[in-house]
Amino acid sequence: MIMTRRIAILGGTGAEGSGLAYRWAKAGEQVLIGSRDGARAEETAKQLRERIGGAAQIEGMDNASAAAACDVAVMTVPFSGAAALLKQLKNVWKPGTVVIDTTVPLAATVGGAATRTLGVWQGSAAEQSKELLPPGVSLAAALQNLGAASLAGDGPVECDVLVCSDDQKAKQVASELVGKIPGARALNGGKLENARIVESLTALLIGLNMRYKVHGAGIRFTGLPLK
Ligand SMILES: NC(=O)c1ccc[n+]([C@@H]2O[C@H](COP(=O)([O-])OP(=O)(O)OC[C@H]3O[C@@H](n4cnc5c(N)ncnc54)[C@H](OP(=O)(O)O)[C@@H]3O)[C@@H](O)[C@H]2O)c1
Repeated sequence: MIMTRRIAILGGTGAEGSGLAYRWAKAGEQVLIGSRDGARAEETAKQLRERIGGAAQIEGMDNASAAAACDVAVMTVPFSGAAALLKQLKNVWKPGTVVIDTTVPLAATVGGAATRTLGVWQGSAAEQSKELLPPGVSLAAALQNLGAASLAGDGPVECDVLVCSDDQKAKQVASELVGKIPGARALNGGKLENARIVESLTALLIGLNMRYKVHGAGIRFTGLPLK
């Protein structure tokens, strides 16, 4: 376990990123909010610090500064901006950084429906991201099915989180961070290529939210040993 890890949340000013930042900072983790605009990141960090109070460790900065300073980076930008951001960060990462990719290639990101995913040549948004990281930086896909509306509150999120990766350390770090969110259960989702299944489930969950007029549809798998 990394004791003094810093978690950068790239695109952490948005709904998903700030929800994760809130949950992890509340659990005592050190969080760096990243944004294309450092001032906007600082504003989000300030709001979260005020909400949590006490010794919440949250700072805001531009995405590149957050990526350079972190041990774990979480991608929470829309699919339409993810590749460009990773290209910009290619020479910024410290070797050994773990990237957790939450990106879903929703058609909505290019003006289509939120209930469909786009075809991605590499197979999934996460596999595309992996291609854009330098050697020595590992990636796990996770949290794509855990909605921002659930993260925004204080209650347990009631969702299983499939963690997919070809790298053991990345899988372990991502699973451990999932376990810091009350109600979330990390499940070993196998290889990174399975991220394509997990990403497409998000489009299905968005459709369920619409049809059942709720905001927090999630997934639970049965028949597995409870932790
Ligand atoms: N929302 C959910 O419930 C949910 C659930 C699971 C997974 N996800 C995934 O999490 C990611 C973020 O979702 P979200 O709903 O939080 O999205 P969002 O609010 O639209 O975007 C998040 C942040 O990304 C930054 N951003 C926007 N466009 C960008 C671009 N072209 N390049 C770089 N940065 C850009 C913005 O921050 P700055 O303007 O400050 O840079 C924005 O605040 C998506 O990939 C989504 O699939 C979301």
